[in-house]
Amino acid sequence: MIPNHCGWMMINILFQSSLVEGCRLPVRMQGGDDWPLAEIISVKEVKGSKCYYVHYVDFNKRLDEWVTEERLDTRKVQFPRRDVPSQAGGTGTPKKLGGGNSLSRPASPPGGPEMQLNGSAVLAAALQKKISRKRKGISLESEDSQDASGPASTTGPASCPRSTGSMVAHHDDVVTRMKNVEMIELGRHRIRPWYFSPYPQEMVHLQCIYICEFCLKYRKSRKCLERHLAKCNLRHPPGNEIYRKGRISFFEIDGRKNKAYAQNLCLLAKLFLDHKTLYYDTDPFLFYVMTDFDSRGFHIVGYFSKEKESTEDYNVACILTMPPYQRKGYGKLLIEFSYELSKFEGKTGSPEKPLSDLGLLSYRSYWAQTILDFLVNVKPVGDNEKPQITINEICELTSIKKEDVISTLQNLNLINYYKGQYIITLSEETVAAHQRAMERRKIRIDPKCLHWTPKDWSKRAKW
Ligand code: ACO
Ligand code: ZN
Repeated sequence: MIPNHCGWMMINILFQSSLVEGCRLPVRMQGGDDWPLAEIISVKEVKGSKCYYVHYVDFNKRLDEWVTEERLDTRKVQFPRRDVPSQAGGTGTPKKLGGGNSLSRPASPPGGPEMQLNGSAVLAAALQKKISRKRKGISLESEDSQDASGPASTTGPASCPRSTGSMVAHHDDVVTRMKNVEMIELGRHRIRPWYFSPYPQEMVHLQCIYICEFCLKYRKSRKCLERHLAKCNLRHPPGNEIYRKGRISFFEIDGRKNKAYAQNLCLLAKLFLDHKTLYYDTDPFLFYVMTDFDSRGFHIVGYFSKEKESTEDYNVACILTMPPYQRKGYGKLLIEFSYELSKFEGKTGSPEKPLSDLGLLSYRSYWAQTILDFLVNVKPVGDNEKPQITINEICELTSIKKEDVISTLQNLNLINYYKGQYIITLSEETVAAHQRAMERRKIRIDPKCLHWTPKDWSKRAKW
């Protein structure tokens, strides 16, 4: 029997109330007519209508969003099974590359490390810190206290997830899985965050957080920021400027000496880094902030953090290009700089794992170009002889760790086994494509402009 109009309405209302967290159904993605499968993470009511926070199952979490009912295809709902844990945004879901709101995404490179969701650890850390501060009788909630005693952040450097345990309940986990900041203003840029970051509660429900682009302190309104700017006399990041060429500079910041700045940088970075846990303790890290100079000052473009001492030969802990500067070659410039530091240290290095989808793409591209550049330029020993090189020589010259050199050569399909020997064969197409790619890489690091001596942190009593 076909139900009458009222019957349909009833069914519809009943249906919507059964759309709970964990339900999966096709949802229309923003800015297009694609209806990929999505999982409901959270439901809220705004002025009498329901809104759903959804995660697109096969896409990166940065595309998660609040949607209204008309974007749900309620004919094809899969209800959560009680015995199967939800996978939205978790490690079990196959990830595809997503960039902003673009709908044409290449698939994740095969065999790459999977991203890990570690939001619960972030919140657990935040809560723990808050509790310990309250015990000490310090309240960091107000803006003024931020000026007095460092940021109200409950965080240290964004770093790789370590054993954190599951200290928070399911509800908290849902909280950290959802973007909590609507918008930030940083210098002349307005940026929509990608992921959760533990900014203080009173900041996250605002339409926009206003951040001083030089000291990275955050304010509730433009007026408050203007008041701050009148007092703030920084026009560049703190620390030492260790590199300058043209408009590009790098500043080295010690997480122990410039704690407030380091913590605010981590808090800001977490908005765009999903698979990293925030730590309160910035002491063991150095931060390398890259800036672009103009008459108003040195504007932050991106940064990477680095452990003062790494037992695993990591030369980068976290790396980020601010979204307005992304896809212009700055990510590779940051990576190139990190390897330049390793060359000065006389070591090979590798980025901390896991890498994000965009991190993996950028590193693979950097490794491929750097290794090919080396191979293309190797000179044969004698006339008519083939150049002889070893993997170790590639590592020594580029500071790229052996595993990364081997995986790059394999990915590029350059290694062949021939008459009992491993040989590297470069086709003319490979060389031509490489030369074209290098011509596109306009900005490069010039080692002559780096004024830096590595410190041996193991010899210091305390960082
Ligand atoms: N879609 C497809 N390809 C992309 C995208 C994208 N959205 N973004 C970058 N790439 C590719 C570029 O095409 C380029 O490769 P190519 O030269 O072979 O074409 C390569 O990645 C690097 O591009 P850059 O312009 O040099 O890098 P960018 O300035 O965009 O920065 C970065 C890359 C740092 C990874 C940036 O995307 C970012 O900050 N992402 C958010 C934070 C993050 O994921 N960081 C890495 C975490 S892993 C870790 O911290 C160790
Ligand atoms: Zn400031």
